[in-house]
Formats: sequence, structure tokens, C-alpha cells
Amino acid sequence: MDAMECMLGRQSTPAGLLVEPTPSEDEILDLLQVAMRAPDHGALRPWRFLVIRGDRRQALGDIFADSLAKRDPDATAADIEKARGKPVRAPLVLAVWAEITEDHPKVPVVEQVVATGAAAQNLLNALHAQGYQAILVTGAPCYDENVKGPLGLAPKDALVGFIHIGTARSATPVKKRPDPAEFLATW
Ligand SMILES: Cc1cc2nc3c(=O)[nH]c(=O)nc-3n(C[C@H](O)[C@H](O)[C@H](O)COP(=O)(O)O)c2cc1C
Repeated sequence: MDAMECMLGRQSTPAGLLVEPTPSEDEILDLLQVAMRAPDHGALRPWRFLVIRGDRRQALGDIFADSLAKRDPDATAADIEKARGKPVRAPLVLAVWAEITEDHPKVPVVEQVVATGAAAQNLLNALHAQGYQAILVTGAPCYDENVKGPLGLAPKDALVGFIHIGTARSATPVKKRPDPAEFLATW
């Protein structure tokens, strides 16, 4: 498949449709070679990836549940159980985060987050090229110190998302995409 055809075929798969097989640790390292090609002002390499598999997904769900209970005193028991169940929907979750260099003379924080987002997108394309399916999700946990801390992030760091990875147990209908002409102007 040529690169354009491949990228034009990528789309996200809902996390609940993802099952094994998933990429092995060696395959993840190969896929991350593509992430390392993201544009990166100042060669700061801000991107970090954390593999969360097996019962570590339940542990992450417990962190989500506890953080919601602390964040929102009005959260119902059902809300908290829903939060707990989020990371176990897919067999593999890769947390993607930016280790932020504060007060950099040339590279503002937003550029470090953009570089990490580009690395995440490269990874999504690489996963697709290798026949896996995935989706990047965020939500309130990404912005909660009670989630970032236990995962090893400092308060300054940016959790860009949780990429849920696996093999789709059923196909997702092909999405209609916007016409790029609507987004292009000539100045
Ligand atoms: C930063 C970011 C955060 C996202 N967070 C969520 C999320 O929490 N839940 C969700 O269903 N989709 C989320 N999405 C959207 C999906 O990743 C995906 O882009 C969307 O479902 C469209 O699918 P596509 O990749 O096939 O275009 C997020 C996307 C981005 C860029």
C-alpha cells in the first residue's frame, strides 16, 4: 500500500471494539521509530510513552475513579464506576505525555505539546500501517494532578492523551471527511 493510500485509510476505532492481538513491546518500539520523526523545535524530544496493559489498566481505572470522586463531589456512584471502566475497554493503553521544559528561551510550552501531538499522530498512522486499530482519548483525567502524579508526571507536564490500541472486533463504518478546499486559502 502506498503511503497516501495508507494514511487516507486511517480512522479511529471506538475503544470498546478493540481486542487482542496488540503490538508486542518490540513492535511498540518499532512503531515509535515513526513517532520519533515528529517535528520538534529545539530537538527537545518532549514526548513520553507509557505502556499500560493487563491489570495495570484496572489500576489506572481506580486512579480515574478516585480522581473523579475528589474532583467532583456531585459525581454519582454510576459516574465513578464509568470512569473506572474507561481504561479496560481496550487491551492496551499507551499514555502519551509531554515532559515540559519550562521557561525555554526559544520553545514555548505550546510547541512542546504540539510536537508531542504530532508524535502521537505519527504513531496512529504507524499503527494503522501495521494493521492495528486505535483511538486517542483525553477527558478530564488528562488535566487532573491526581492522575498525572501516580503516572509519574510532574504538575508542569502535559498528558496529551491515552491511545487505546488493539485489533477491531468489527469494522467501523468509513467516515465522510471534510472537503480540504473549505480549509484552504491563499494569502
Ligand atoms: C487531543 C484529542 C483528544 C481527544 N479526546 C477524545 C475523547 O476523550 N473521546 C473521544 O471519543 N474522542 C476523542 N478524540 C477524538 C478521537 O481521537 C478521534 O479523532 C475522533 O473520534 C475522530 O476519529 P478519526 O480519527 O477517525 O477522525 C480526541 C482527539 C484529540 C485530538
